Amino acid sequence: MIPHLKSFTAGAALAVLLAALPPCSFAADKNKAAEEAGAILFRGKGCAHCHGDDLAGTKKGPSLANIDKDKQWTLERITYQILNGGQKMPPFADSVTDEEAAQLVAYLRAKHRPVLPPPAPGTPPPPDPPAR
Ligand code: HEC
Repeated sequence: MIPHLKSFTAGAALAVLLAALPPCSFAADKNKAAEEAGAILFRGKGCAHCHGDDLAGTKKGPSLANIDKDKQWTLERITYQILNGGQKMPPFADSVTDEEAAQLVAYLRAKHRPVLPPPAPGTPPPPDPPAR
């Protein structure tokens, strides 16, 4: 018997055990709820009207599909863009609460963005976005 083998085995078993534990599953659930709320808001507040239902962009707005990977679009900057708008994007500070803005940001920055089912037939279109 090699003297160190026993403690090595115990250490390896512990490492396997720790690796198998889900990293803080409570926080993950909370985040997922925010991401889903954000997906619904993205459609409901008219963002999809310019940025596309699938975030691929339209003639009216750029694609947001890779914004989660684009380091310049920090949480703060995306929030600022939503609340204050841009050159052609209207500001949403009057029609989106701080919590809703946070949910929109959670959705845009999500690793696995929730995909909504298509709207049921007969669902009224979202209201026009605020005028610039
Ligand atoms: C009327 C069209 C329009 C609507 C509605 C709109 N956007 Fe935009 N958005 C734009 C345009 C155009 C830009 C590019 C910058 C600019 O000109 O303001 C932009 C830029 C952005 C950006 C920065 C990305 C970039 O590459 O510039 C984010 C994030 C964003 N929009 C999120 C949203 C969200 C979230 C909503 C809904 C609350 C929304 N937009 C609604 C037109 C729109």
